[in-house]
Amino acid sequence: MPGLAVIIVGEDPASQVYVRNKERACEECGIYSEKYALPEETTQEELLELIDTLNNKSSISGILVQLPVPKHIDEKTIIDAINPNKDVDAFHPVNVGKIMVGNYDFVPCTPAGVMELIKESGIDVSGKECVIVGRSNIVGKPQAMLLLHQNGTVTICHSKTKDLKEKTKNADILVAAVGIPNFIKGDMIKEGAVVIDVGINRLENKKLCGDVEFETAEKVAGAITPVPGGVGPMTIAMLMKNTVKAAIINKSK
Ligand code: GUN
Repeated sequence: MPGLAVIIVGEDPASQVYVRNKERACEECGIYSEKYALPEETTQEELLELIDTLNNKSSISGILVQLPVPKHIDEKTIIDAINPNKDVDAFHPVNVGKIMVGNYDFVPCTPAGVMELIKESGIDVSGKECVIVGRSNIVGKPQAMLLLHQNGTVTICHSKTKDLKEKTKNADILVAAVGIPNFIKGDMIKEGAVVIDVGINRLENKKLCGDVEFETAEKVAGAITPVPGGVGPMTIAMLMKNTVKAAIINKSK
């Protein structure tokens, strides 16, 4: 039986929403889940103790610590403490390394969701110019590897990239993962390109928007994902997939 433990530390409103959605998805899929909502002042030692307990709990096949954690807790130490066989986020260095060499069990949920969208839309990555805007460990870097494994020609752009527009204009497949609202405008996109928006930004008027300016981008793009309702639900679906995979892996251990 797959079982997912979701840990959230503190009161970050966006994280609360994400964790609620993850719990709801478990219910819908019939996956057993445990939620640990810990107060902001939880110490690193207390969090490490909980992870150790869950690493050794047979009813739990997957462990997810919602990021970001409060500043007094070292994110890297926490990720390193999760049993790699239960690391359904694929953030542990062992799983990151496995993705690099192309021999992996878990794929980080958001890049995996992007790949699934591309596949289900019948888009062949091989030989395509793939441009990723953003170089985070959660999205940009693993996304680059996944596209590369499918023979895309991959460029990673970031805040120090010169002539960004020249790079994005060259993309057949453009993945926006910078975390800046409406950062990618229509005039930065090649006619007919596939545009995938990973951004989830909350504006002052409380509305959600992506990293791509949808109104101008949709006029140019051949295919484009909306925010909300594009990559977000795919991320959750991939978490469910990783949890089932974790149950199979841990059963055979
Ligand atoms: N914070 C933002 N995205 C993610 C994610 O995919 N997993 C976790 N654990 N935290 C996140």
